[in-house]
Amino acid sequence: MNIVVLLGGSSAERPISLRTGAGIARALRARGHDVTALDPATGAVLLPGTEETQAALPAGEVALVPRNSTALLSAGSLRDAELVFLALHGGAGEDGTIQALLDLAGKTYTGSGMLSSAMAMDKAVSKKLFEHAGIPTPAWRLYRRREGKAPDDAMARALGGYPLVVKPNDEGSTFGLSIVENAEALQPAYEEALRYSNQVLVEAFIPGRELTVAVLGEQALPIVEIRPKGGLYDYESKYTAGRSEYFCPADLDAAKTSEVQELSLRACRALDTADIARVDFRLAPDGTPYCLEVNTIPGMTPTSLVPMAAKAVGLSFEDVCERVAALALERAAKERRPDAPRNELA
Ligand SMILES: Nc1ncnc2c1ncn2[C@@H]1O[C@H](COP(=O)(O)OP(=O)(O)O)[C@@H](O)[C@H]1O
Ligand SMILES: [Mg+2]
Repeated sequence: MNIVVLLGGSSAERPISLRTGAGIARALRARGHDVTALDPATGAVLLPGTEETQAALPAGEVALVPRNSTALLSAGSLRDAELVFLALHGGAGEDGTIQALLDLAGKTYTGSGMLSSAMAMDKAVSKKLFEHAGIPTPAWRLYRRREGKAPDDAMARALGGYPLVVKPNDEGSTFGLSIVENAEALQPAYEEALRYSNQVLVEAFIPGRELTVAVLGEQALPIVEIRPKGGLYDYESKYTAGRSEYFCPADLDAAKTSEVQELSLRACRALDTADIARVDFRLAPDGTPYCLEVNTIPGMTPTSLVPMAAKAVGLSFEDVCERVAALALERAAKERRPDAPRNELA
């Protein structure tokens, strides 16, 4: 099959996306597909083996990469693709923007659609839907830059006191996230989060264990427990080898395992995700699993959490990539309306 993998992009998570996309392209090629790796930020086709070189670009240069949707739509390889495999993390690639563009172009793509992607990227919107679906999520408040009101001590008391977590409402990879231990640290943490977003989420800090659940199609895979060696599961411990320990399946009894897996499926249904997603939890000392967020384009480097969970049920990295592609095609076939006007943008 003729598949275009979209990777790179212009978000802060570009380097990880290049690694994810390179791994996916390699896996799909190994399964005999005709794969083109395309960077929507530049419209450039990355030749096999050069994706990692791109990932090594210094941050300063990456920041200069323009957002260029025209380049994407006019790429000949996209026009010919039978399937677009999305390997973009953060920003336009994961928040529904690229999904909308592909909808307009009439292309079939992997993963969640425009609305689902946008809702999952917005942590406050996600949390409203979790609450509606009876999924525990940490107590929270949202602050909008345009409203000009900063979080204060009264808010802290209403959320149950310190520590609190302050984070951008729509950023990934723990950028701009702080754990606030006292009133003095609140304002600096708020300003730091504002560097990444116009909306800042303040949450009750949930002590305990860090769990994540990959959902492949309608199936919750074995739970992964993450133990960061430095305490916080931040950018460093996520992407530096040896900074975290991983346990899969997580050491939980059967009842807690199915409870967390069931909550993961419910979170994905609440947001209407598709094909693949990864749901992040904190497991409090009292046994309550608090849902933090759903990632609609989870990391898929061969050493990421989704492939780790898949391995526990005997699925190789290549199997997972193949399965995601197959799920997207099956879904597209079911959803196609024979009478719908065909869009010929691409
Ligand atoms: N309310 C919270 N209580 C405890 N730890 C948290 C909380 N919110 C975030 N964290 C920690 O920060 C990490 C990143 O937060 P998350 O909400 O998943 O955002 P993202 O992964 O998009 O940066 C979590 O995996 C967790 O380790
Ligand atoms: Mg997360």
